[in-house]
Amino acid sequence: MVCQERFFEIYKRVPERLAFCPYRICPIGAHSDHNLGKITGLAIDKGIHIAYNVKTNGVVELCSLQFGKRAQWHVREVPKHKQNDWADYLRGATIKLAEKYPLHCGLSGVIEGSLPIGGLSSSAAVVLVFLKALCDVNDVHPTPLELIMMSVGAENDYVGVSSGKLDQSCEMYSQKDHLLYLDTLNDEYELIPTSPLMKPYKIAIFFSGVERTLAGSKFNMRVDELRSAAYALAAYAGIEYGKFNETNMRDIPRSVYDEYRDRLPRNWQLRAEHWFTEFDRVQQGAEAWRRGDIEEFGRLSFESGHSSIYNWETGSPELKKLYEILTTTDGVYGGRFSGAGFKGCCMALVDPAFVDHIRQRVGDEYLKAFPELRGKYSVHICDSADGVRL
Ligand code: GLA
Repeated sequence: MVCQERFFEIYKRVPERLAFCPYRICPIGAHSDHNLGKITGLAIDKGIHIAYNVKTNGVVELCSLQFGKRAQWHVREVPKHKQNDWADYLRGATIKLAEKYPLHCGLSGVIEGSLPIGGLSSSAAVVLVFLKALCDVNDVHPTPLELIMMSVGAENDYVGVSSGKLDQSCEMYSQKDHLLYLDTLNDEYELIPTSPLMKPYKIAIFFSGVERTLAGSKFNMRVDELRSAAYALAAYAGIEYGKFNETNMRDIPRSVYDEYRDRLPRNWQLRAEHWFTEFDRVQQGAEAWRRGDIEEFGRLSFESGHSSIYNWETGSPELKKLYEILTTTDGVYGGRFSGAGFKGCCMALVDPAFVDHIRQRVGDEYLKAFPELRGKYSVHICDSADGVRL
């Protein structure tokens, strides 16, 4: 691994340890988790490695092959506020872990991501892989759910992104050749095996060539719009509600939405429409996967993408173009923007027999529309994978 070589160059020693966390895709279930909906997900065989050694003086010293600046802090003296660089996620994660477990050791580490950033949840992956490493050097053993919640807490409280736990759960629980079907209300999940009857598939990732961070996008505003819709619906229907931030669309029965939806401001109505229809699609998708019906599963993923564009109103021009090309390319079962949809990439489930054709057609059409992205646009063909591991 390049991170191991780089570690050797910097520290003149071989790193003793290596951890890996995969990226994730969410074919159906987008923009659902922050309001306690259901999701589907798969981890892929690309992700983030950290090569590391223990530091007994408690200092964390990190360098990333993707970002220039090195970062350093003490496990018990993390800056209280974010520093506005890539390592903020990891400072936040250190605080969350230290709140629950005694930390004595730090680590020196080099981090390496295998794909461009945006849409595959590299932020959750880097936090989880770092937390695994930090737990390892301190010999502490949080449960998988504790690690998920610490990682979400780092994003919500330290970085300031109102994300849910979709990303972390996929990267934690996934198993190769299984679909994760998770209810973010109560963390119940099922790993639905790929049926022997299912047609073969590969996971294709199409990078638009434009990277992004959620902190600078409209991500939080969309979440607020949906929550506002939930709050208003509760009030119209006379449902008892608590604090605004503790109200979720999951608290609102479908019948209440149907009865009062027309009273909502148009934007809020659209966000709610996405949420409720996505909830249905996730359940239908899980059943399609169980039957081995990848064509139906793919069709639902395309529908999810459509709703993200027209109801959730997300998607840069580049991502919308990619989505549109995918819907008209032979051999693509289905797909959508991967992740929040503000730049980054699209994912698709594809028939392996069509991979060459798909590469050719999607690349030709996309670069015809965005010639300036030649050299930045890229395609990666992946398989499903297990979750985070040392
Ligand atoms: C990002 C967030 C997730 C989820 C998705 C959209 O990846 O981190 O929590 O909200 O966007 O589905």
